[in-house]
Amino acid sequence: MILVTGGAGYIGSHLVKELVKKEEVLVVDNLITGHYEFVDEKAIFIKGDIGNQSLLNDLFTTYPIKAVMHFAASSLVGESVCDPSKYYENNVTATIKLLNAMTTYNVKSLIFSSSAAIYGIPSVYKIDESVHPNPVNPYGRSKRMMEQILEDYASAYSLNYVILRYFNAAGALDTAKIGERHEPETHLIPIILQHLNGLREKVQIYGTDYETNDGTCIRDYIHVVDIANAHILALEALLGGAIKNAIYNLGNGNGYSVKDVIEVCEKVTGKKANIEISPRRLGDPACLIASAEKILLDLGWKAERDLEQIIKSAWKWHSKEKIDSKI
Ligand code: UFG
Repeated sequence: MILVTGGAGYIGSHLVKELVKKEEVLVVDNLITGHYEFVDEKAIFIKGDIGNQSLLNDLFTTYPIKAVMHFAASSLVGESVCDPSKYYENNVTATIKLLNAMTTYNVKSLIFSSSAAIYGIPSVYKIDESVHPNPVNPYGRSKRMMEQILEDYASAYSLNYVILRYFNAAGALDTAKIGERHEPETHLIPIILQHLNGLREKVQIYGTDYETNDGTCIRDYIHVVDIANAHILALEALLGGAIKNAIYNLGNGNGYSVKDVIEVCEKVTGKKANIEISPRRLGDPACLIASAEKILLDLGWKAERDLEQIIKSAWKWHSKEKIDSKI
C-alpha cells in the first residue's frame, strides 16, 4: 500500500487517479485546500493532518505501507512571504514528523514534492539539477530545507528518496473529472480561463518590464497528468532498486511568457481577453525553464503534452466547473 499525503489536492489527486490502477492507495488529507470529491473512490481516504503524531502512529500501525508520496504542503509563494510561520510549520515541521514515523515503522521509500522555487533567480536560461539552489522566498526555502533534511536522513537512517522539482503545473484530467481548484485562485492559467468564462472582469499582467522578449515573465508549464506519470515511474524505479536518493526536474523544457499564455488561451477558447498591465508581483523571477534531460536519461520520462493541450484540458475543466457551480 502507498500512503499519499495531500492526495485530495490538485497534483496529489491526479497522481492518485493513475496510482490506483497499479497499487492499493491510502490518502491522507486535512482538506484545508484539498477537495474530498477529487479523491478516487478506489483509494482509502482518511481526513487528518500529518503534523498529528497519533494519526501517524495509527496509519503506520494499521496499514501495510511500503512507500510514501508526500504532496501535502502549503504552496503559494506570495502567501509564504507574508506568513512564513505557516510554511515552516506545514512544510518542514510536519514533514519531519512524517519522516520520523517512517523511520520508526521502517518504511524506507519516499517520493517528495519539491519545486522550481528552490532555484530562486537562476543565472542560466535552462535550469538543470546541478544549478545551485538559492531560494528567494519562504516557500522555496521550506522545500530546499526539506531536500537537505532528506539527504541527512538518507545517510543516517537509510531512507531512500526521490525528489521531484515541479515547474508550473497546469491542466486537468482529459475527462475533466478533476482539475485545478484553488480558493482563492492565484495561478495564471486558471485566472485567464475564469476571465474568458465570464467569472472575472479582467486579467492583470504582473510586470511588462522584465528582461524577456516581450517584457513579461517566462515559465515552463507542465501538464499535471505528465507530472503524475513521472511519479509512477519514479516510484517503480525506487521500489525496484533502480534508483535511490535522486533529484529530477519536471518540466516541458519550453518557456512561455505571460503574453504567450494569454494568446494560447484566446486561441483555444475563441474569446478575447481584457488585459490590465499591473506592477510586478513580489518575488517573481523573470524566467524559469527546466532542463528535464536527467529524468529522460534515467527513467525514460518526458512530458507528452504541450501548452495548447494543457490549456484545452484546463478549459474543458473550467467550463464544467462553471456549470457545476451554477454561476
Ligand atoms: N501572473 C500574472 N497575472 C496573474 C497571475 C500570474 O501576470 O493574474 C504571472 C506571474 O507574475 C508569473 C506567471 O504569471 O510570472 C505565473 O504565475 P503563477 O502564479 O501561475 O505561478 P508561479 O510561477 O508564481 O508559481 C508556480 C507555483 C509555485 C512554484 C512555482 C515554480 O504556484 O508553487 O510555480 O515555478 F513554486
